[in-house]
Amino acid sequence: MNLGIVGATGAVGVEIIKLIQKRNIKYDSLSLFASKRSVGKKFIINSIEYVVHELKEDVFNSLDYAIFSIGSSLSKKYIEIANLYGCVVIDNSSAFRMDPDVPLIIPEINANIIKKCDKIIANPNCSTIILNIVIAPIHKINPIKKIVVSTYQAASGAGLRAMEELKSQAESYCNNEEYDTRIFGRQYIWNAFSHNSSITENWYNEEEMKMVNETKKIMKDDNLKISATCVRIPVLRAHCESVSLTLENNIDIEKIYEVLKEAVGVKILDDRKNNIFPEPLIVSGKNDVYVGRIRKSLINKRTLELFISGDQLLKGAALNAIQIYEYLTYL
Ligand code: A2P
Repeated sequence: MNLGIVGATGAVGVEIIKLIQKRNIKYDSLSLFASKRSVGKKFIINSIEYVVHELKEDVFNSLDYAIFSIGSSLSKKYIEIANLYGCVVIDNSSAFRMDPDVPLIIPEINANIIKKCDKIIANPNCSTIILNIVIAPIHKINPIKKIVVSTYQAASGAGLRAMEELKSQAESYCNNEEYDTRIFGRQYIWNAFSHNSSITENWYNEEEMKMVNETKKIMKDDNLKISATCVRIPVLRAHCESVSLTLENNIDIEKIYEVLKEAVGVKILDDRKNNIFPEPLIVSGKNDVYVGRIRKSLINKRTLELFISGDQLLKGAALNAIQIYEYLTYL
């Protein structure tokens, strides 16, 4: 079990490193990789100093497993090489998610479909994970027929530099200075804007289509009716989602509560008296995805409304990947 973290210096990579310590992850050797820029950076993990190395093709020669968080074009290039060297890859990017031969895994939902011979295991998109972990248990007791979801997404999904840009804009606002807009090309602080991914042929953006296609794959239902609107809000690291689910049968709200209460990785926060529901500052740093505003829709008896918030860097990325690694090493 020689493990490599590829993209160790990024927003997700750093969280993976923290989780390796926190969860006492097992490995025989651990190696950290990033771009040339980060060579020589050091991390202390379980009291041992690890130096970051440059990612090169031959590093996979000595690795059994690698967790990638370097974006899809680099993933496409290096994962094939890693596999040629016999290294199994857990990939955070979208590069292989829709490949029919690659399992798309949220361990609480479908770890059982991982096979020993799988060479790539894909981590779903962060918004997809946060949505699916909450709706999967509901689907089991009352099948979901239609999903309408709107996201309120944090800077972290666009990486460390995007988080830095938001922080720097906060400082610039206080100092009455010009904003650095290199990542998003606009003022981010005090603003909300349609997700920065490209608009596709059908006028949905790529992030929205990731949610749509990946949810269908995870739920194993190509005919599922699902539509998404993805928006960035000036929050550092946790996403929110407003979700409207139309179910097959009339809603028994007590049963919905019961099933969400039992769901692994999900926590109900639905304090109507004090008006406290899931919000980014409450869920940041937490493993569970929080759900609240659980209510029957005014539209019809089969529609359920929810509001979800989950740490994009943890369950939306690093934690999910580490859970997959834990599962693989127990197989
Ligand atoms: P680096 O920090 O050296 O740029 P984020 O999504 O937070 O921006 O993180 C991206 C991660 O991918 C970082 O660890 C980054 O390393 C790494 N990365 C970016 N470009 C390359 C590259 N050409 N080769 C290897 N790693 C890269």
